[in-house]
Amino acid sequence: MGTTTCLLMTLCLGIVSVSCEGLLHRQKRIWIIESFKVEEGWHGPYPYMLGKIETEKEFQVGFHLRGQGVDLEPKDKLFIETTTGEVFVNGELDYEFCSVLKLTFEAKDKFDKTLNSRLGVEVEILDINDNPPVFQPSKHTVNLKENVSQGEVLTVVRATDEDRKDTNNGTFDLKIVSINPKPPEDLEFFLEQQDTTGTIKFKGCLDHPKSDTYTILVEAKDRGEMVQLSSTCTVIINIEDGNNHPPTFTGQTGVGSIKERDSGVEVLRLQVSDQDTKGTQAWKARYTIHGDKDQNFRITTDPKTNEGVLLVEKPLDYEEGSVRNVSVSVENEEPYFSCKVNRRPPKGLWDVETSIGHPPLFRQVTIRVEDVNDPPIFTPAVKNVSVDENVAVGWYLETLTAKDLDRSYANTFLYMKGNDPAQWVAVDAKTGKITTTKILDRESPYVKNDVYQVTVFAVDDGKPPMTGTGTLNIHLKDRNDNLPQLEMTTMGMCLSDEPSKVNITAYDLDKDPYSGPFRFQLLGDDVKGKWSINPNHGVNWEPIYRKNQKPADTWPSVEWFGDPCLMGSWTLYRLHSDPGEREHSVCRSPSVGARGV
Ligand SMILES: *[C@@H]1O[C@H](CO)[C@@H](O)[C@H](O)[C@H]1NC(C)=O
Ligand SMILES: *[C@@H]1O[C@H](CO)[C@@H](O)[C@H](O)[C@H]1NC(C)=O
Ligand SMILES: *[C@@H]1O[C@H](CO)[C@@H](O)[C@H](O)[C@H]1NC(C)=O
Ligand SMILES: *[C@@H]1O[C@H](CO)[C@@H](O)[C@H](O)[C@H]1NC(C)=O
Ligand SMILES: *[C@@H]1O[C@H](CO)[C@@H](O)[C@H](O)[C@H]1NC(C)=O
Repeated sequence: MGTTTCLLMTLCLGIVSVSCEGLLHRQKRIWIIESFKVEEGWHGPYPYMLGKIETEKEFQVGFHLRGQGVDLEPKDKLFIETTTGEVFVNGELDYEFCSVLKLTFEAKDKFDKTLNSRLGVEVEILDINDNPPVFQPSKHTVNLKENVSQGEVLTVVRATDEDRKDTNNGTFDLKIVSINPKPPEDLEFFLEQQDTTGTIKFKGCLDHPKSDTYTILVEAKDRGEMVQLSSTCTVIINIEDGNNHPPTFTGQTGVGSIKERDSGVEVLRLQVSDQDTKGTQAWKARYTIHGDKDQNFRITTDPKTNEGVLLVEKPLDYEEGSVRNVSVSVENEEPYFSCKVNRRPPKGLWDVETSIGHPPLFRQVTIRVEDVNDPPIFTPAVKNVSVDENVAVGWYLETLTAKDLDRSYANTFLYMKGNDPAQWVAVDAKTGKITTTKILDRESPYVKNDVYQVTVFAVDDGKPPMTGTGTLNIHLKDRNDNLPQLEMTTMGMCLSDEPSKVNITAYDLDKDPYSGPFRFQLLGDDVKGKWSINPNHGVNWEPIYRKNQKPADTWPSVEWFGDPCLMGSWTLYRLHSDPGEREHSVCRSPSVGARGV
C-alpha cells in the first residue's frame, strides 16, 4: 500500500467494463497521488482497511474522497477516515463491472478550506476467475447432404469470457467432449480452434443409413489457475440421405400388348426397388427408352409407386411388325454417390475414395402389337385427269383403286361416290372406275380454276367398317361453247342532225382464244350508207346513224350468221325525235351480230 507522496501520472486504463467507462471520460486530468489494488469478489469481513493516504499534515485536518466507489457507481464500496486518511473497503467489488475506480482526494485546513482539489486516487480491481466462457449461440443445427466431402466446414462455434482476456482467467480452450451416437469408424468429427472460435469438420465419409443425426457437445473451459470454469454448446448434425443405392429392377416384366393405331395408352409397368429414403430425389426413378427408332413410346414415372409407365405415344402399325423390342434404363434423379475410407493416417484428413454416378441398369421389354381392321388406302390418294369439257356422257375419266393392308383381316370393299357437287360422274362400286353422267362445263360455278373435284370412298366390310378416301381432280380443257354476248342488249339512242353514236360491249364466258377481241358486223342490206361500225374490231362498237334518213327505213335488219350460235342480238329504238315523227318512235328490233374472231 502506498505511503509516499509520490505523484503518478496515469493515463486512462485499458479495458474497463461498459458500466463505468463513460465516467472516466468525463474526469479531468488530475495528479494520482495513490493507487491501491483490491481483489474482486472477496467475501469479507468488511470493512477492512485498504491503506492510508499520507500527506504533509501541517495544515491539513480533514480528508475527503469522492468518485467511483464512494458517491458514484459502484456506490458506498469505499470510505475514508476523515481525520486519519485511512481508506476502507466496505463491500464486494466486481472487476467485470469496473476494473479501476477513479477517485479524487481532498484535504482541508482547519477553516474547512480546500487545499488540494486535483489529486487523484485509483483503486485497481484485480480479476478473479469468476466468469465461465459462454457460447453464443449455444445451439447449432447443421443439415448436410450425404455427399459433403471431408474437411469441409460444418459449423463455427464462438465463445466469450468476461474475465481479463490477457490472463488465463479470460482465456479458454474449446474441445468436443461427447458425440451421440458414437460415429462409426469411417467417420470422425474434430474441432479446430482459432482464438475464441472453433470450426467443426469431419474426416472420412458421412453415411445416412448408419445414423442420420449426431449431437456434438463442445466445451469451452478457461485456464484459471485456482478454478477452471466452463460451459458447453450443442451442435446437431443432420445428414440427409444421398443417393447411395441405385434403383434395381424387380419382378418379371411380362410382354406388353397394344392394339395397333392406339396412342396415349399404357402398355406396361416396370417395377424397381431403391433402398434410399422414399420420396427423395435419391429414391425417385428416372426411366429412359432405348431402341425406339420411330419414337413410338414414352415412359414416365408413377410418383407414388416409382414404377416406370410405358405408353404408346405414336400409333404402331401391325403390318410393320407384330413385336417391338425396346430396352429401358433406370437411374435416380439425384446422381449416385458413394464414399469409402481406404486409410486413416494419424495426421491430416483420411484417404477416401468417392465416386459419382453409376452405370444405369437396363431391362428388355417386348411389346406385342395386335392387328385391328385398317382402313383401305387409296394409292395414290389424289389423281389428276385432264379432259375436254363437253365430252360425251359416259366418258371414262379415271379409276381410283384402294388397297387393304390388313393381313389378318382380308377385307373386301366397295367404292362409293363421295363429293360430286354437280352430279357429273358415276363410280363403279366394284372397280372404282369413274365415268361422266352429264356434259361437263368448265364455266360451271362448281369448277374452281378449271378443276372439278370428286371424292371416292372405299368402305370395307370389317367391324366396324373402315373407310378410305380418294380424290380425283378433273382438269377441264376449254372449248368454244359460249356465244359472245352483248353486255346490254337494249340501248337508247337519240336522233339528231349530227351523226349519233352508241357504245356496244361484248363478252364471252370462254377463255382465250375462244373469247375477245370480237369482230362486229352490221347485218341487212338496207344498212349500207346509213349505218356504220367504228371500229370494226374491238370491244366497243359504234353504229352511226346518219341524218336525213327516214328512221323507219334505216334500222339494220335481223340476220344470223351461217355460223352456229355465235350471234348476239341488239335492239335499237328511237328515244327522241321531232314531234312530227312521233309515230316513228315505236321500237323496232334490229339485230347486230358480234362474232368471236
Ligand atoms: C485469476 O483468478 C484467480 C482466482 O480465481 C486469482 O487468484 C488470480 O490472481 C487471477 N489471475 C490473474 C492473472 O488475474
Ligand atoms: C451433392 O448432391 C447434390 C444433389 O443432391 C448436388 O446438388 C451437389 O452438387 C452434390 N455435391 C457434390 C459435392 O457432389
Ligand atoms: C424380341 O425379343 C424376343 C425375346 O427377347 C426375341 O425372341 C425376338 O426375336 C425379338 N424380336 C425382334 C423383332 O427383335
Ligand atoms: C393434281 O392437280 C393439283 C392441282 O389441282 C396439283 O396441285 C397436283 O400437284 C396434281 N397432282 C399430280 C400428281 O399431278
Ligand atoms: C364509247 O366508249 C368510248 C371508250 O370507252 C368512249 O370514249 C366514248 O365516249 C363512248 N361513247 C358513247 C357514245 O358512250
